[in-house]
Amino acid sequence: MNTNQTSSPAVGIDDIAFATGANRIDLAELAGRFGVEPAKYYVGLGQSEMSVPAADEDIVTMAAAAAAPIIERHGSDRLRTVLFATESGIDQSKSAGVYVHRLLGLPQAVRVVELKQACYSATAALQFAAALVARNPEETVLVIASDVARYELHSNAEPTQGAGAVAMLVAADPAILELETATGVYTQDVMDFWRPNHSATAIVDGKLSISAYQDAIEGAWADYRSRGGADFSEVDHFCYHQPFTKMAIKAHRHLAKSLGSERTQEELDAQIEPTTGYNRRIGNSYTASVYLALLALLDGDDDLTGRRIAFLSYGSGAVAECFSGIVRPGYRSALRSDANRARLDARTVVDDARYLQLLEDAASADVHDSDRPRETGAPFRFAGVVGDRRQYEPTSA
Ligand code: HMG
Repeated sequence: MNTNQTSSPAVGIDDIAFATGANRIDLAELAGRFGVEPAKYYVGLGQSEMSVPAADEDIVTMAAAAAAPIIERHGSDRLRTVLFATESGIDQSKSAGVYVHRLLGLPQAVRVVELKQACYSATAALQFAAALVARNPEETVLVIASDVARYELHSNAEPTQGAGAVAMLVAADPAILELETATGVYTQDVMDFWRPNHSATAIVDGKLSISAYQDAIEGAWADYRSRGGADFSEVDHFCYHQPFTKMAIKAHRHLAKSLGSERTQEELDAQIEPTTGYNRRIGNSYTASVYLALLALLDGDDDLTGRRIAFLSYGSGAVAECFSGIVRPGYRSALRSDANRARLDARTVVDDARYLQLLEDAASADVHDSDRPRETGAPFRFAGVVGDRRQYEPTSA
């Protein structure tokens, strides 16, 4: 039941789409190099594959590919704002969203800005978007989360890499999900995961990151409840940030235990399972991950009409937010479920040697002037760098 709505117009997610890298590697390939059983990754981490971008893909090309079908469907007449969330930015100054703005042919009367706080910032973007739309329900906001997750090669974090983008149109009277007004937030300065300016890969204290994640979710949930959020028992589904899908299961069990829930472990795990299908095959997509969990849930067989979904968003460092939404009647007609599933299967399978070569190429991509080889089948490509200027173009150009 929707208990905390005000009389202001319903605001929420009107459309949602995703994109990912052109390639995939089965984690059994990494298990071979690491000398461990594939079950460590398939079962222990709950991950089967990782997406690997082609040489001419990056956060901009994935973001534009995710957003293109939304702009195609809705046009851009009402669009006033593009919020680009990422922690793998390609420039210290210019927003990656400005490149996307051009690639999609958006009007000049649009503001574009980039947001950063590890994997959390897409949730901040969604809340900022909802506030803008509540102030003027005629306007829409495009929220894009896009990331390429990179850790040091041969480290135990390497199997938790990935790449992906989710685009969401936030509007009044949304077709897919109405956001409820209560949110719970939590911030604590903790060094569990970070990436200094000199490093292309993240630095992580794996074990600390897991406990920091769980503490932050507990804190955000408590704040959500104190602000009028739904009781644990009133939530039908939970979408967690999924750096690896087992993390969502761990965190959900942890939260349920801390709240004294009487649900069995099987019941708790069943609440998470339908949210894991895409992340299990994409890997960590950082800012996009919690919304890929939503997309997997929406694309599943269950009719979710009227159901409440709670979101548990976490970004290392650390910030967490808990909020909830109610699925709108007729939401299925706004989805692209078959195309979403097909996109995952269409990726090219690469072996460990090719994957390592792609990572090496990507690391040198913007250090020197270079042309990127034509590889991607996505609608937009990263063509190379000329005089420190990144070049993006439609793939058909
Ligand atoms: P590790 O040391 O390789 O793994 O690192 P492990 O030894 O802890 O094993 C992992 C699991 O596999 C364990 O399960 C093992 O028992 C199991 P658990 O006990 O935890 O339930 N296992 C097996 N299961 C079945 N068959 C087997 C087998 N062998 C072992 N044969 C770690 C794992 C996640 C620490 C590492 O990959 C890492 O550091 N990853 C990056 C950090 C990360 O993802 N942290 C998550 C929380 S922080 C977060 O989500 C934020 C983040 O997205 C960044 C951001 O916000 O920007 C990361």
